[in-house]
Amino acid sequence: MTGGTETTVAGFPVRVFNEGGSSRVVVTKPLPGDRWLDILQHAGCRVEVCESPKTILSVGDIAALIGPQCDGVIGQLTEDWSAPLFGTLKRAGGRAFSTYAVGYNNVKVHDATNLGIPVGNTPGVLTDTTAEIAAALALAAARRVVEADKFMRAGNYEGWLPTLFVGSLLQGKTCGIVGAGRIGFSFAKMLVEGHKMDLVYYDLFPQPKLEQYFSAYGEFLKAQGERPVTVRRLETVEAVLREADLVSLHCALDASTHHLIDAAHLRLMKPDAVLVNAARGEVIDEAALVAHLETHPDFRAGLDVYEHEPRMAAGLAECDNAVVVPHIASASLYTRGGMATLAAANVAAVLRGFPAWRDPSDVAPFLEGDVAAMPPAAPSIVNAADLGLALYAP
Ligand code: GLV
Ligand code: GLV
Repeated sequence: MTGGTETTVAGFPVRVFNEGGSSRVVVTKPLPGDRWLDILQHAGCRVEVCESPKTILSVGDIAALIGPQCDGVIGQLTEDWSAPLFGTLKRAGGRAFSTYAVGYNNVKVHDATNLGIPVGNTPGVLTDTTAEIAAALALAAARRVVEADKFMRAGNYEGWLPTLFVGSLLQGKTCGIVGAGRIGFSFAKMLVEGHKMDLVYYDLFPQPKLEQYFSAYGEFLKAQGERPVTVRRLETVEAVLREADLVSLHCALDASTHHLIDAAHLRLMKPDAVLVNAARGEVIDEAALVAHLETHPDFRAGLDVYEHEPRMAAGLAECDNAVVVPHIASASLYTRGGMATLAAANVAAVLRGFPAWRDPSDVAPFLEGDVAAMPPAAPSIVNAADLGLALYAP
């Protein structure tokens, strides 16, 4: 984000781009890259980016930034986007909103739909980046990388020992995924192809594409004289937890997945299993996980998200068998820039009256090339069907 001029809106430091633009778009946090600004400016928007050092803006803060007149907003996953803020946006003449995330459990989409406001999100660009953090957590937890790093830095290393930081090998074992959507599939590829793990998965729906992919990969391995990997959809989450040596959660957060992993479910898992969560914190009963980590020293967890972010459950920080990172699954340069592009393209397209893009899982046409030549569509509008928005037909 370069250029712009500094001003103050409702007491907040704000950077303004394209001052003379005809529609006013508020962005609650600075975003990486410049392409997203080009997209909004090309659509004739005046862009106001809040530069407040406050990490999480309250509903009141954002309402003040929206003020009496605002056409669109790009918001964050830490903000409470429900009836009060959508009402404020509507009264200000607002017609467009996009969250800067793929997950939108913080957005009460229904409240926006009631007011006729399209809600954009940013799928596609997070898939491999998020899967990579899950894979990094899985390997770091299984091989005790963070514990060992701490030990090294503390000056405790006195020499090689047969018993120093012995962990578990993932190669050839069983990988389980709960939720076999885009991110789960990408994670499974990394572990199955990289570590020749067998795959078991739970998803509400059978995933024929995923099953064909890994069956064909198994055939390929067999042809090379190697042990073929297998893939199976199991009927229940419980069965995946029982069978897998590594379980990674890739489901969306909703009422059916809240505390999906609780004390009873943890007890089903192998005593030396690895549990990874780069989905949403509330999918795990975190207090139960801490109790399990405390009583099962060989059990390991790799966590990117927390039930009560930004806090961790009491005792988690003391569990050496957990690897914890601060919700950074989407934090690659490629992805964070791509998310900005998609959020801006959502808002710009809605303000210009464009239809919704036909396939939100294929957003490549928005990510590069001249912004003037981008498809005249909003890349991903989650309530497009409920609002009766037209779909883009080239
Ligand atoms: C990140 O957690 C996202 O949902 O984009
Ligand atoms: C370990 O460092 C080995 O050489 O076996």
